[in-house]
Amino acid sequence: MLEELREANSYITSKIKETDSVILEMEKFAQEQNVPIVTKEVAEYLKFMVKMNKSKNILEIGTAIGYSGTIMAKAVEEYGGHLTTIEIDEERFNQAKENFAKAKVDNVTLILGDGLEEIKKLQGEFDFIFIDAAKGKYKEFFEDSYKLLSKDGIIFIDNIMFRGYLYKEYPKRFKTIVRKLNEFIDYLYENYPGFTLLPFGDGIGLLQGKK
Ligand SMILES: C[S@@+](CC[C@H](N)C(=O)[O-])C[C@H]1O[C@@H](n2cnc3c(N)ncnc32)[C@H](O)[C@@H]1O
Repeated sequence: MLEELREANSYITSKIKETDSVILEMEKFAQEQNVPIVTKEVAEYLKFMVKMNKSKNILEIGTAIGYSGTIMAKAVEEYGGHLTTIEIDEERFNQAKENFAKAKVDNVTLILGDGLEEIKKLQGEFDFIFIDAAKGKYKEFFEDSYKLLSKDGIIFIDNIMFRGYLYKEYPKRFKTIVRKLNEFIDYLYENYPGFTLLPFGDGIGLLQGKK
């Protein structure tokens, strides 16, 4: 979470009263087992965006245990929306499978594999693409999934400002990833006029519409 907004984000989070037992269970599990999932306010925003966009065909790269996936799938199920989500880690893939079943969402296609390879096998267009996997590969995920974006579709990239390390002092071990994310943001601003950066959660990158 970006340092300056931490208090505001905590306040917003305190106002969100989740009642869904499966979602609450996933939040507890993620906290106890250190599984990185979207923050509550980002989850709220994702839900808002897919509903506003009336997303019919969502692609997620980075399922983890299926937390954001369940939230998006539930948000669009009333009008026949569908989620395709890709996870590279087999243990998380299995946890996600179990969680989707517990949450009774059946509008989900869960794929086990490397997003970079699996995206290339996908058919059709997606009107909402959520990128939330290995940050060092964000540009590749973006390039490949952009090819599948519908004309007015949205790409939503989480953690793009990487805990604020892009503009403040960061631990040396993050040097490469910080450089890559900075270059990626410059690349997006230079080449994609619809791109915008939002300073909440860990930083959200948004792109609407295809060139
Ligand atoms: C931040 S977590 C995703 C959280 C999830 N979107 C949520 O909010 O509930 C990132 C996930 O991406 C997965 N991942 C990393 N590299 C990947 C790749 N190349 N292809 C697919 N998944 C990948 C990790 O195993 C991890 O579970």
